[in-house]
Amino acid sequence: MKYRAPKGTRDILPDEAAVWSRIEDVFRASASRYGYGEIRTPAFEDVQLFIRSIGSDTDIVSKEMYDFEDKGGRHISLKPEGTAPVVRAFIQNNLQAVNPLTKLFYISPMFRYDRPQAGRYRQFHQLGVEAIGADDPLLDMEVIVLAVSFLHAIGLKRTTLLLNSVACGNCRPRYIESLKEYLAESQDDLCDDCRRRYVDNPLRLLDCKNPACKALLQKSPVISAYICDPCREHFDRMREGLDSLGITYTVEPAMVRGLDYYTRTAFEITHEGLGAQSSVAGGGRYDRLVKECGGPDLPGMGFAAGLERLVLALEAEETMSAQRMPCSVYMAALGDRARISALEYLYKLRDAGVYAEYDYLGRSLKAQMRAADKSGCKHIVIIGDDELDRGTASVKNLSEGIQTEVKLEELVAYLLK
Ligand code: HAM
Repeated sequence: MKYRAPKGTRDILPDEAAVWSRIEDVFRASASRYGYGEIRTPAFEDVQLFIRSIGSDTDIVSKEMYDFEDKGGRHISLKPEGTAPVVRAFIQNNLQAVNPLTKLFYISPMFRYDRPQAGRYRQFHQLGVEAIGADDPLLDMEVIVLAVSFLHAIGLKRTTLLLNSVACGNCRPRYIESLKEYLAESQDDLCDDCRRRYVDNPLRLLDCKNPACKALLQKSPVISAYICDPCREHFDRMREGLDSLGITYTVEPAMVRGLDYYTRTAFEITHEGLGAQSSVAGGGRYDRLVKECGGPDLPGMGFAAGLERLVLALEAEETMSAQRMPCSVYMAALGDRARISALEYLYKLRDAGVYAEYDYLGRSLKAQMRAADKSGCKHIVIIGDDELDRGTASVKNLSEGIQTEVKLEELVAYLLK
């Protein structure tokens, strides 16, 4: 029996993991500069949290949740996204008492039982932020600017920012009415799921992948044409902010996003090198979610980017600039005595921040020299029993091809220099 990683999951090996770490470091630094503090929430939550927040008619909840009963009979789900858990943690920890505007960021695996394909996995990773407590459209702008500048900072250029307003509790019903009216005569031509959506949650009709439904919806009314004056002013003010910084975007009047909790601002950032799964980041405002989850009536705004897709986009732009730390010193010790004596210098170098390698395969000096060459190190230190007797080591500088005899007590200082 050969075990393989479960379908839709991947092993991230050291070279790629170096790219991940670099992206994570840039994200942490960007989010921190904007005043966001890190939050880590559990990998699983009560399933009801996701049903309540994301919505029972969404694909994420109705088809993609990793939910199960645990041994204590609790119905739980691995988290399919990060906003609901952060909102749950915000409420549970009474964070509004600490600060009237709470700004949090997270880096975490997420789980969706989706059909795996390039850029779509069952375990994937999101980098996200949530700002809870203010309905200022300039906060929407801040979250979008953070997303855009983070993508630029990791080196992505071929991205497009898509914006829309998905209405609020006051104006959305008008839109829903007109969408239903538009489809009233063709209800029978909709797929089974959409016939149900038509009654329960017509907004979700717009997510359907069925070609017949898509064709029917092609000329349907668009949500942004139905927004009320306060929603329009909110949208315009946010755009004014983005315009003042020269950030370019496209208004996508039909974009509604696949989660129920959004109100007003919705945005996505796509990358042209990604094919079908082109969205590298998405987010928006959720002014009713905190209350809906049992907390105070506070508005929120956030976004999340998919790490795997960022890596694919970087590959497409051929700007994978992260590398594993290169080896500096290869310690080639020969003979029992020398192998023990060399350890002192090996660990001193490592403690001083130097990447130093050591042979554990019992290789000959020649084989160790070859391994050292392959590691790309700058110096090889050769310590054999003869050198030990003289109290020295031979240090070979590979780039200059020079070999020097160095006193053992000066070895670490010599290499650090
Ligand atoms: P989302 O659009 O569902 O939004 O996901 C955000 C990002 O996660 C996507 O743009 C994509 O890059 C990545 N992603 C989603 N599903 C997969 C998958 N199966 N495989 C690989 N990557 C994936 C949310 O999750 C919201 N919670 C974002 C948000 C935060 N809204 C407000 N605050």
